[in-house]
Amino acid sequence: MKHITITSEFISYAPEELQGDDAILVEQAIEATKASYTPYSHFCVGAAIRLADGTIIKGCNQENAAFGITICAERSALFAAGASHPDVPVVAIAIAARDTDGQLLRQPITPCGSCRQAMIETETRYGVKLHILLHGSEQTYACEGIRHLMPLSFADFD
Ligand code: THU
Repeated sequence: MKHITITSEFISYAPEELQGDDAILVEQAIEATKASYTPYSHFCVGAAIRLADGTIIKGCNQENAAFGITICAERSALFAAGASHPDVPVVAIAIAARDTDGQLLRQPITPCGSCRQAMIETETRYGVKLHILLHGSEQTYACEGIRHLMPLSFADFD
């Protein structure tokens, strides 16, 4: 028997430390929350994706009375990118969210398991490691690659 420890690495950026392309992508994710359709949860999530050619694609959660078909912000953006720019690799994704009072979450929003699985598929599809930004108004987490958010994933075998 042996114990196995799997580690994840993140950088935590204070608000004033987030700059350049990262700051732009996070701003776009925040902007994306404005188009969320959330009559049921009132929880608005936005995602912004950067493609290898610099194009930014936004997505946000779209809810439905049949709750199960609600689509999350991350997958809305990833699928929009796949539909409109199938041959351009996705290289980065930023996620932000507003609570039911409309306030940005103070701590980083963390994606659901289905969206993590969709991010794995994106990495596999394009052969890239995603630059992932999880925004909160007090700190933003950054990591390089979905494995930091989803170890032992289904795609994680030889
Ligand atoms: N949601 C997202 O958009 N992304 C996630 O990663 C988790 C949850 C949405 C789905 C639903 O509209 C609302 O947040 C509450 O669960």
